[in-house]
Amino acid sequence: MAEEKKQIVDVHAGLREVKTEQRAGSCTMVIFGGAGDLTRRKIIPALFNAMRQDLTPHGFTVIGTGRGDMSHDQYRDLMREAIRSFVPPQHIDEPMLREFLSGLYFIGGEFDDPALYKTLINLMQRFSTERTGCHNCIYYLSTPPSIFPAIVKQLAAHDMARVTGPDHWRRVIIEKPFGRDLESAKQLNRVIGDVFEEWQVYRIDHYLGKETVQNIMALRFANGIFEPLWNRNYIDHVQITSAESIGVEGRGGYYEESGALRDMLQNHLLQVLTLIALEPPSTFDANAVRDEKSKVLRAMRPYHTAEEVDSHFIRAQYAAGSVENEQVIGYLEEDGVFPTSTTETYVAGKFFVDNWRWADVPFYIRTGKRLPKRINEVAIYFKRTPHLMFRRMMDDHVAPNVLTLQIQPNESIGMRFEAKYPGTQMDLRSVSMDFHYQETFTVETVEAYQRLIMDCLRGDATLFLRRDAVEVAWWLVMPILDQWEASQAKQIPSYAAGAWGPAEADALLARDGREWRHL
Ligand code: BG6
Repeated sequence: MAEEKKQIVDVHAGLREVKTEQRAGSCTMVIFGGAGDLTRRKIIPALFNAMRQDLTPHGFTVIGTGRGDMSHDQYRDLMREAIRSFVPPQHIDEPMLREFLSGLYFIGGEFDDPALYKTLINLMQRFSTERTGCHNCIYYLSTPPSIFPAIVKQLAAHDMARVTGPDHWRRVIIEKPFGRDLESAKQLNRVIGDVFEEWQVYRIDHYLGKETVQNIMALRFANGIFEPLWNRNYIDHVQITSAESIGVEGRGGYYEESGALRDMLQNHLLQVLTLIALEPPSTFDANAVRDEKSKVLRAMRPYHTAEEVDSHFIRAQYAAGSVENEQVIGYLEEDGVFPTSTTETYVAGKFFVDNWRWADVPFYIRTGKRLPKRINEVAIYFKRTPHLMFRRMMDDHVAPNVLTLQIQPNESIGMRFEAKYPGTQMDLRSVSMDFHYQETFTVETVEAYQRLIMDCLRGDATLFLRRDAVEVAWWLVMPILDQWEASQAKQIPSYAAGAWGPAEADALLARDGREWRHL
């Protein structure tokens, strides 16, 4: 255990070391839910890409587990298909693909059946001599969350979680959703905490693996010019938008239990908000960064009464409409959705971070499905100039300076400012300075899952959620969820698919004399 901690300290001694320490120590990765959708779409393509870029450790081995019977070869065939579907063809080199697949194995079984774990132990033992040369192991929990506790308990019962030395570490990656409310998140944390030490636990939020999300830290803390302005004296408000053009994509059953607030806001968007609002950590190390993120969440103002919730948050559901020139059905017509459902597919709200830096600065957040396009962006609105010196400025509407960080699809940073329009008059126009990742850095972007899985292999938990942060985030949103449930609304506002959300969302900002950015 002490060894593992030392390793973490060493890896995190500084950003430079993390950057140069590209290759991780060898290990076996056991994926629970090894044939599932996420494994096929994200995990296996991420691992294949890592191997292609020579980032996976020598002898790295994957054991998929799941219900059903499948030979190793059948599993490899399934994963070959997954790679062909989710990795661009120009990145697939046949000999390399064969080599990757040869490191995949499958064991079928029920997750609460001790026999599955006995077989796993035998296989892991065999690989420690035949392939990896060590006993290191990552357990990747990619099953429905209701099964997490059963798996963790079985791992404990079979003594599979204990770290006994530097070549015998054990880590666990937990997929979202991490609980569906504060109580269930706490309960899950307790179950995991009974078996694993916190530094063995990697709760994934794939937004934290996105380049531009990580770039928030670089922008703020690797440059001297932004931080002095990064506070209530200069910033008027912040807008965080995560728009999707897709609907629930056949996940109606899951979405009915979740809704936009649980699915996107409680995790992804609050995480992005914490990176915008946090105080400068002393080092880029897992605990220093995560301490500051937790402090932001704790400083956020919770809304308790029905009036407070209603005046700061709105929810809505998409009705039939047209998105990207295609006619689409409404949420209530989707498979797996109750015809009278009041599950929200859109949520917009206003948060405050009650501390010295951010007092009274609104953070507006919105996310929704079936909006006109997929775009994910943070916009920092600066205050207007204190005095309007140019006469034309007084005549015209003067746009405030806005710093935008586009997380996807065009990863970029832009700064809008006023400039003189050529001519004999002092005419002003808004212009922008833009930095585009793809144009500037012509290298392939690393997909969020790949980045995060590689971090786990290296023992770097900076971009993963710590227990306290997950619980505080739930604590913050619970009054909203409780109030929505208590209201027993028979219907919630709707928006036509392809529109930028309901009129109520516009009214939320209009009340403050502001409007959503036109994206
Ligand atoms: C997932 C949500 O966590 O994030 C999905 O469950 C959502 O509903 C997805 O579509 C969005 O991720 P990304 O990376 O496409 O923005």
